[in-house]
Amino acid sequence: MDTSRAHAEQLDAADDLRQFRDRFHIPRNGDSEAVYLCGNSLGLQPKTARAYLEQEIDDWAHLAVGGHRHGVKPWYSYHEAFCHGGARLVGAQPSEVVMMNSLTVNLHLMMVSFYRPTPQRHKILIDAPCFPSDLYAVKTQMRLHGFDPTESLIEVGQRDGEHLIRTSDIQDALAEHGDQIALVLLGGVNYFTGQVLDMAAIADAANSRGCCVGFDLAHAAGNVPLALHEWGVDFACWCSYKYLNAGPGAIAGCFVHERHGNNEQLLRFGGWWGNDPETRFDMHLRPEFLPQTGAAGWQLSNPPILSLAPLHASLELFDEATMPALRSKSMQLTGYLRDLLEQGEKETDWCQIITPRDPESQGCQLSLLVLDRPGERVESLLDAGIVCDFREPNVIRVAPVPLYNSFTDVWRFAQTLQAQPSGAQAS
Ligand SMILES: Cc1ncc(COP(=O)(O)O)c(C=O)c1O
Repeated sequence: MDTSRAHAEQLDAADDLRQFRDRFHIPRNGDSEAVYLCGNSLGLQPKTARAYLEQEIDDWAHLAVGGHRHGVKPWYSYHEAFCHGGARLVGAQPSEVVMMNSLTVNLHLMMVSFYRPTPQRHKILIDAPCFPSDLYAVKTQMRLHGFDPTESLIEVGQRDGEHLIRTSDIQDALAEHGDQIALVLLGGVNYFTGQVLDMAAIADAANSRGCCVGFDLAHAAGNVPLALHEWGVDFACWCSYKYLNAGPGAIAGCFVHERHGNNEQLLRFGGWWGNDPETRFDMHLRPEFLPQTGAAGWQLSNPPILSLAPLHASLELFDEATMPALRSKSMQLTGYLRDLLEQGEKETDWCQIITPRDPESQGCQLSLLVLDRPGERVESLLDAGIVCDFREPNVIRVAPVPLYNSFTDVWRFAQTLQAQPSGAQAS
C-alpha cells in the first residue's frame, strides 16, 4: 500500500464528491484547517445554513405573525418540506417520516404507542453497550407501567473476549424469550463500536415473534443506507446534529411504519400539531383529538422553525450528492483509514480497531480501542489540530465523513496518531 501524502492527494483529486467540502465551514487550528473527524458527534455547518436561518429571522422581523401564512417558506407548513428528503435518507415513504422534538423525546413518544406491556409480554430487548439516554428511557418506561427493569430488561451485548454483538445472539434471545418481549429497541449503528447491525434480519426475527421493533438511528441516518419501510421496522428515531449537519441540538427525525400510520386507535399522546390540520383550529368546537395519518400524527407542538431552517441546507446537500455516492466514498475513505492504521505498527502496539471489517457492518466511524492513556492521546491529537473524540473507558472514535472529509484529512490523522509514542516508550 502507498502510504505517502502524495497518494492521499491523488485520491482526493479523483474524488467526484470533493467539491462538497467547500460547501461547509471547516474549523481552523491556527493558520490551517483542522482535521475534523468528529461528524459522528456534531456535523459541520453547511455554508448555506446561515442564509436559511436569516431568511426566517427576516420573515419574523418583517411579517411577525404573518410569517405563518405569508413567509417565503410559510411556517404553517414549513415542516412538511422535510418529509421527502428525510424519507430518502432512511428508506421510507414521505408519510412515514416527520421531523420533531429531540431524539430521546421521540423515543418516549414512540414507546407510548409501541411499548404496551402486559404481564405476559413486558420485556424490552436492548443492545449493550446501549447509549445511556436510551437505557434511561427504557427503564423509566418500564417503571411507568409498573414493571421492574431487573425483570423486564434483556440486554444482549458482546460475548466475553469479543467487541461486537452477534446478530445470532439477538436472534437466539428472541427465540428464547420472544413471547415475553414487547419491544426490541436497538442502536442501528452502535455509538461505541461503530458496528452496523443487520437491521433487516433483526426486524424480521422480532416481527415473526410478535414483538415491536424500533431503532435508534442517531449514528445511522446520513451515514449508512437504510430501508426502514421494506424491513418492516415499527418505528425509528434519529437526531440531525451528527451526520445530518443541522446544528447543535437540531430537531430530530421519526419514522412510523405506514401500517401504523393510519391506525387512529393506536394509543399515543395527543397535541394540536398531530391533529388533522382540517380541524386543528376548530378550538371553539372543543373537538376530540383526531390524529392525521402518517408519522405526522405523532406531533405535539408547532415546530421550532429556527431549529428546522439549517436542516434545509443540509438535506439539499444530501439530495445533490445522493446517498449511494456518499456511501461509496465513505467505504473508500474509512477503508483507507483502516489500511493506513493497519500499516503502522501502532495498530498492534497500543491501538486496536474494534469496528467490524466487513464493509456492510461499518459506516464512517472506526472505533479504536486504546489501552494506553486514551484520554491523554485525544488531547494531544487536539493540540495537533485533529478533532476526534473519546468514550470511556478506552475508545477513540474517528469518523471521516464523505460530504466534507478528504483523504488527506485521513492521512494527516494516521500520521499524527502514529507519531505518538507507543505504550512501552511512554511508560
Ligand atoms: C445513540 C444516541 N442515542 C441517543 C442520543 C441522545 O440524543 P438527544 O440528546 O437528542 O435526545 C444520542 C446523543 O448523542 C446518541 O448518540
